[in-house]
Amino acid sequence: MSEMNRRSLLIRNAQVLHPDGTISPGDVEVRDGQILQVTAAGAIAPSADLPEIDATGLTLLPGVIDPQVHFREPGLEHKEDLFTASCACAKGGVTSFLEMPNTKPLTITQAALDDKLRRAAEKCLVNYGFFIGATAENLPDLRTANPVCGIKVFMGSMHGPLLVDDDAVLDRIFYRDLSDPNYENRLIAVHAEDMKRLRERRAQFADETDPAIHSVIQDNQAALMATQRALALSKKYQRRLHILHLSTGEEAELLRQDKPAWVTAEVTPQHLLLNTDAYKTIGTLAQMNPPLRSPRDNEILWQALLDGVIDFIATDHAPHTLEEKAKGYPHTPSGMPGVETSLPLMLTQAMKGRCTVAQVANWMSTAVAKGYQIPNKGIIAPGYDADLVLVDLNTYRPVRREELQTKCGWSPFEGWELTGFPVVTIVGGQVVYDHGKLNTDVRGQALRFGS
Ligand code: DOR
Repeated sequence: MSEMNRRSLLIRNAQVLHPDGTISPGDVEVRDGQILQVTAAGAIAPSADLPEIDATGLTLLPGVIDPQVHFREPGLEHKEDLFTASCACAKGGVTSFLEMPNTKPLTITQAALDDKLRRAAEKCLVNYGFFIGATAENLPDLRTANPVCGIKVFMGSMHGPLLVDDDAVLDRIFYRDLSDPNYENRLIAVHAEDMKRLRERRAQFADETDPAIHSVIQDNQAALMATQRALALSKKYQRRLHILHLSTGEEAELLRQDKPAWVTAEVTPQHLLLNTDAYKTIGTLAQMNPPLRSPRDNEILWQALLDGVIDFIATDHAPHTLEEKAKGYPHTPSGMPGVETSLPLMLTQAMKGRCTVAQVANWMSTAVAKGYQIPNKGIIAPGYDADLVLVDLNTYRPVRREELQTKCGWSPFEGWELTGFPVVTIVGGQVVYDHGKLNTDVRGQALRFGS
């Protein structure tokens, strides 16, 4: 088959999610990796050169763009690598991801960024973009590194050069000359936890070995303090700011009162659906940064998402091996995988009536493309890239450890009965996942950013 034909296909009789949020039976013709036309079901004549997918009974959504993942390559491949992680993405309906800089070496220079892009081009089944990490030393790299989705600042829960909690350094990173209309305004994405408070409280609770203490040590106040600080800097310089994995009701209420037009925020499925009760059942597998919070925080975050105070959803896919997770608190690493479960978790909530399918697609694709200024993605309409997922909203089945593609081999959601699992995932017009089978020959592309 020619290159063009490999990226061309016809999706027949799907329940298509349209840009206005309505869902109706339709056909979608894809040519050369892009959507050519979306019609009523049965309106497109068969064509000999166009492979057809019978999507009867399935719902067609824009592919998920996961804007916060840790895929561990280079340097930490015993946990995950770009191939295994992108297989997990394809299975989870994630057609693009934005990856974090805490790999080895750290992604803090153009050379390290180029190395990741090269590895991804070789191994990734889905589309990819990378953050550059801020340090106290790499200001010039932060301004020029290309292509990047943004600058990642760890204000807390980090050690080494990627920890940036000094006021003067933060000010320099956020700085913009407001008298110069062309001054660069690259997005800064913050991990907002106050390091000074975390250090003090770690010392205070140093003898505790119950993992539930993690949420007490890294408390709501620590998150709120850092978010307040980032917000103040963003306002001072009118700097694009994205608050990663918002976890507390206090931060959500702060943003409800005070959120400039250039600020966005995200929440993870685990901060919506898990809380501190999870330590009782899954122990250190529930340990992440920022930590799980109370059921009341779950409720406030949900409301903030529904009201548009929180813009989109990220998984913070942060795999660690079961051996590492068995070390016993506080020696256990923080983080949990997520790309294989995020879409069914959220679609299950939609089927329960907590939100709509259209809202899920907006939070997991359309709004992410908008926030990160990723052109041509996140909408099913002519001219957009054919990054698509067909999901089954009629069948329920449990999350099973043995079916997971992530190298770490576990999920905090094992045993949860979910619907909305992907049946077919399409990246740039290529079928990368089909009824349980991956096509590992497919490769994604480097994402572009900017309007
Ligand atoms: O729980 C977490 N784990 N939060 C982070 O921000 C980093 C991540 C990791 O890389 O393991």
